[in-house]
Amino acid sequence: MKSNNYNTIFLEDERVDGADKVNGKAKYTAENNLPNMAYAVFVTSTIAKGTIKSLDTSKALAMPGVLDIIYYGNCPVVPGYISNAAERPKNVFEWRGHKVLYDNIVRFFGQPIALIVADTFENANAAVRFVKAEYEVEKFETNFNKARLDPANLKSTVNYKRGTEKKFKETNFFVEAEYNIPIEVHNAMELFATIAHWESEDKVTLYDKTQGPKSTQSTIAKTFGLPDKNVRVIAENVGGGFGSALRSWSNVPAACIAAKKLKRPVKLVLTRPQMFTLVGYRPQSWQKIGLGADAAGNFIGISHEAISNTSRYEDFREGIVNVSKFLYACENVDTKYSVLPLDLSTPIWMRGPGEATGCFALESAIDELSYKLKMDPIQLRIKNFTKVNPENKLPFSDINIKDCYAYGMEKIGWKNRPSIPGTIKENGWLIGYGMSVGVFGAGKGSASVRIVLSNDGKLLLECAVSDMGPGTTTSMTMIAAEAMQMPIQKIKFKLGDSDLPPGPSQGGSGTTSTVGSAVDLACKTVQQKLKELAIQYAPAFASTSAEAIEVKNEMVVLKTDAKTKIDISALFKLANQEKIDLIINSNGKNAEQLKYTSNSFSAHFVKLAVNAKDGTIKVLNVVTTGDAGKIISPKTARSQMLGGVVGGIGMALTEKVEIDQSTGQIINASFGAYHVPLHSQAPPTDVWFVNKPDINMNEIGAKGIGEIALIGFAAALANAVYNATGKRVRDLPITPEKLGYKTAKA
Ligand code: MOS
Repeated sequence: MKSNNYNTIFLEDERVDGADKVNGKAKYTAENNLPNMAYAVFVTSTIAKGTIKSLDTSKALAMPGVLDIIYYGNCPVVPGYISNAAERPKNVFEWRGHKVLYDNIVRFFGQPIALIVADTFENANAAVRFVKAEYEVEKFETNFNKARLDPANLKSTVNYKRGTEKKFKETNFFVEAEYNIPIEVHNAMELFATIAHWESEDKVTLYDKTQGPKSTQSTIAKTFGLPDKNVRVIAENVGGGFGSALRSWSNVPAACIAAKKLKRPVKLVLTRPQMFTLVGYRPQSWQKIGLGADAAGNFIGISHEAISNTSRYEDFREGIVNVSKFLYACENVDTKYSVLPLDLSTPIWMRGPGEATGCFALESAIDELSYKLKMDPIQLRIKNFTKVNPENKLPFSDINIKDCYAYGMEKIGWKNRPSIPGTIKENGWLIGYGMSVGVFGAGKGSASVRIVLSNDGKLLLECAVSDMGPGTTTSMTMIAAEAMQMPIQKIKFKLGDSDLPPGPSQGGSGTTSTVGSAVDLACKTVQQKLKELAIQYAPAFASTSAEAIEVKNEMVVLKTDAKTKIDISALFKLANQEKIDLIINSNGKNAEQLKYTSNSFSAHFVKLAVNAKDGTIKVLNVVTTGDAGKIISPKTARSQMLGGVVGGIGMALTEKVEIDQSTGQIINASFGAYHVPLHSQAPPTDVWFVNKPDINMNEIGAKGIGEIALIGFAAALANAVYNATGKRVRDLPITPEKLGYKTAKA
């Protein structure tokens, strides 16, 4: 892999937790066990909508090892379940979302209706089918495509306009098309799990799969009426999240309720099928884009309309149309976004939320327009490039997307791309090239970090953020190593525990910027303290100023004379001090940083082959590039981008949740039937970063890549399919049927 200009001799680009993860030492939530622990499993509804007339638990209760069955008939009062604010205790907030085990109302197929608690997981599971529910069934609607056609079903519409509405229609070159994306599920390898342990009546410890230990802590504290400090959430390792673990789902309160009722620790692990129904998903969406340009390719008007589904009991919205407002220069832009409530569970952010959906449509439309203009699609994008965000009128803190274009064009072999689609055929395969852009907001929030430098030279950093897999532990260690100019082996970064100083939830590609800035600040503060100690206690430094001193190689050194130095442990001894132990708070963007708007960008390039006989699509080559400021850990950053490519191939070619509209049941709720890409579908992939620090964005110059790794990829692939075949598919996933081929009969 290419080296980058960030590494110094101090930085070995290794995953600091890699060995523990492959040898099994790293514990994931469900792998924790507590003395006297009981096991819980959900019984779920077999209708999509209605009420439970009666629930017979007697047979199940008589099964071996069954300790209790909790349901609406016997569920203890949960303060946060009380809807009437006047009746709720102070400091208790109403639970957002489905109040599990609380009432007899069924809101979606597969909704938990009871919780079986037993002495073993097997015994709990064995009792599930002996719980008998009788329902009063109601008419339901889960059919997005049907329901969205009636405007009366839509709600929470938000409009945006600058310039003239539908201006694209007045241009000589325009496209107008509709795009559909089905429900997709995150389904990380690690199942959702919660272990709840009440240490006393008002104090609970949770092991929980979460992207935000602090957010889970606060949610549970507010739901059960406890002070935050009485709720401890441990999520030391997280086996993937992709956004699904950005809120607490029903498994968390259910485990708390059961553990409290039974007065013993309870472990609740979802099943794989329940991962499709109980922990969110990317909502189904319909979009319509109108895009018009003049003959030179200047965008004259963009209209972007979108509808995405939500549940009946919550509004879930995301920024699907936002990309059309700011990515390209265009004076006339109008957008409209509504949600469509269906009798399904509530969606949630999924990798690249909003933009992943919006970019598929916009970047497909740009490609389509390029053929009408007889213009190279990259040239068309360059033509409409802007350094100033046209929506908020602020300059981008940095934007180097053109460097991504140049690298990608070269490496994918863009010069071989046929300008007329469907014209290259090799050994029965049609060859095509496509590209697309991804973009996502780059934020910097608040975080607190504890930093401890001990007299043995070891550095400890702590923050209650999580690492769901991108390598946060590694990158934070590397930021500290760079700032302190010391080896990573001496640094430990602890996360995944709400008892640590508050950090953000891991989401929205914000961790590196937010927590990284706090780590950097903490290290610089410690260095300042060391300099002050040297001036005060080390005679050689007595008449110097802090500005004349630097800290590196675990030494305090005079800048102008490297021979004047003292190592840290000797300095601590002189100062009669064992350690420096501080908590540093880092806030969001400062006034200077707020003068800019910040985004990370990506450009994805795909070369693929479509079998001319049966429509099989084979991705031959991918070049994926990121413009995300300084790359902290090249190894984990590369992995992020590779994951985005694989996820993007799934989004483009294989992933789709299928609902039986006669029952409202998801019928492919397993990895056997919901297809994520196989190893054999992961192509050779060249990952490249501009790797230029964005110094206007934050002190460390690093932006996030979690989202841009995926955003846009599906459009690059769809554009390549068009280039290969001349068939434009605007409904994901792209299948041979949609290319006009008949399905092979087994
Ligand atoms: Mo990501 S959807 O911000 O976890």
